[in-house]
Amino acid sequence: MSANSPAAVVVLAAGGGTRMKSNSLPKVLHEVCGRSLVGHAVAAAEELTPEHLVVVVGHLREKVSEHLASRHPAARAVVQEEQNGTGHAVRTALEALAADGVELAGTVIVTTGDAPLLTGDTLRALAGAHTSQGNGVTVLTAVVPDPFGYGRILRDGVDGAVAAIVEEKDASDAQRAIDEINSGVFAFDAELLVRALAEVTTDNVQGEEYLTDTLEILRKAGHRVGAVVAADYRDILGINDRVQLAHARRLLNDRLLERAMRAGVTVVDPATTWFDVQVSYEPDAVVLPNTQLQGATHLGEGSEVGPNSTIKDTRIGAGARVTNTTADGAEIGDFAAAGPYAYLRPGARLARKAKVGTYVEVKNSELGEGAKVPHLSYIGDATIGEGTNVGAASVTVNYDGVNKHRTVIGAHCRTGSDNMFIAPVTVGDGAYTAAGSVITNDVPPGALGVSRAQQRNIAGWVERKRPGTASAQAAAAASGDGGAAPAES
Ligand code: UD1
Ligand code: CA
Repeated sequence: MSANSPAAVVVLAAGGGTRMKSNSLPKVLHEVCGRSLVGHAVAAAEELTPEHLVVVVGHLREKVSEHLASRHPAARAVVQEEQNGTGHAVRTALEALAADGVELAGTVIVTTGDAPLLTGDTLRALAGAHTSQGNGVTVLTAVVPDPFGYGRILRDGVDGAVAAIVEEKDASDAQRAIDEINSGVFAFDAELLVRALAEVTTDNVQGEEYLTDTLEILRKAGHRVGAVVAADYRDILGINDRVQLAHARRLLNDRLLERAMRAGVTVVDPATTWFDVQVSYEPDAVVLPNTQLQGATHLGEGSEVGPNSTIKDTRIGAGARVTNTTADGAEIGDFAAAGPYAYLRPGARLARKAKVGTYVEVKNSELGEGAKVPHLSYIGDATIGEGTNVGAASVTVNYDGVNKHRTVIGAHCRTGSDNMFIAPVTVGDGAYTAAGSVITNDVPPGALGVSRAQQRNIAGWVERKRPGTASAQAAAAASGDGGAAPAES
């Protein structure tokens, strides 16, 4: 908390969100770039380090409260039993604080849970103007191309100061023509807010307590009512339906990609590249088209990811190459490689220069430095030593139907193609295994593990058992005499 921190930020998030047309998900829990709508509001609020951070919940409150407790524990949920309007919502929050003996002094910021593009910087600018201008209340406004549905800002004809806010449903035709709108975000003097809310009535078309009425109340009582006009109206866009949700996601994604590019990341196709807010990176990383970076994914210096990759909560080391890959909770070491068509599941850890190749799935397993699993394999619950090569089409048979078991393959091993490692099993350092082996017993260091039946060839079988077929004719031609094949070898 700094000297300029507000006493409280109140995030309004109790509304129904009916236009989202969801049977189960509250509006403010819809996600944009890896964070819920209310999570974005809380994150922006947290940047101001308020003494109290309150989220007013109502509609599907259990889900919202649970989400806040698990993901944004700094926020306190206050229940508004009935959604009687934005003024009522703020009053409910302040009464809950007062009931806990909190005496608010200084600035209270009110913001909304459905405006994910609103940044801490914008809130800071609002709070700064509010304090420096000595206002009783300061509203964040924006000039928008289509003001329909928003509260309109009425300014005094003489001094241009904000005189009142009139809601769409209460506005005259002339007022509806105004294109400066209320963002729903305010800075208030705490004490004046409490007093003004006590005077708010439900005397309007919707029969609700409007928070917006406090501006006219305070102005009439002789207090300064200020406004900060958002530099870019898109920063204050509120989400009411899934079309606006997609639009906001696009805008926020563009912002995140622009930040990455300015920090030295090459994004080849911004139109098909999606970043979550927590993604981090180092210079000279390259992101190829159709790639989604989710959660706390990190791109190391000079790494390359994509095309066609979905990477979640995964650390990609410097100079690593990840192509056509799905990864979740993995670690890809410096100069390591994954794909094309690799699936790295939680706990897949590739050391420096390790390689997981084509159609390979890895789960809860470590590959040592330079270890390779190049083709068509499943590696689960395994440890593979440095410099080891696992042959094509190998499976660590880790599951006995009840429990999972580990496979340990040492350093510098060469395991054959089409091996089944029946875990628990250990292959010692420097050992080889023969192709097609089912490795049930441990292989000592330096040994060759072989486990397969001797091959036998039954001579002339095709000509005897499949006479007249193309195979039989080909066999006859190959044997040269058109007659019976040589004896069994
Ligand atoms: C509100 C403003 C309007 C502004 C617009 C910006 C009022 C009266 N109107 O209108 O001037 O242009 O936001 O988007 O304030 N909420 C509660 N409890 C309630 C009612 C609402 O928590 O009882 C929450 C909603 O969840 C939402 C926010 O307050 O996050 C705004 O409510 P909403 O019903 O969307 O108000 P608007 O009609 O959009
Ligand atoms: Ca709204």
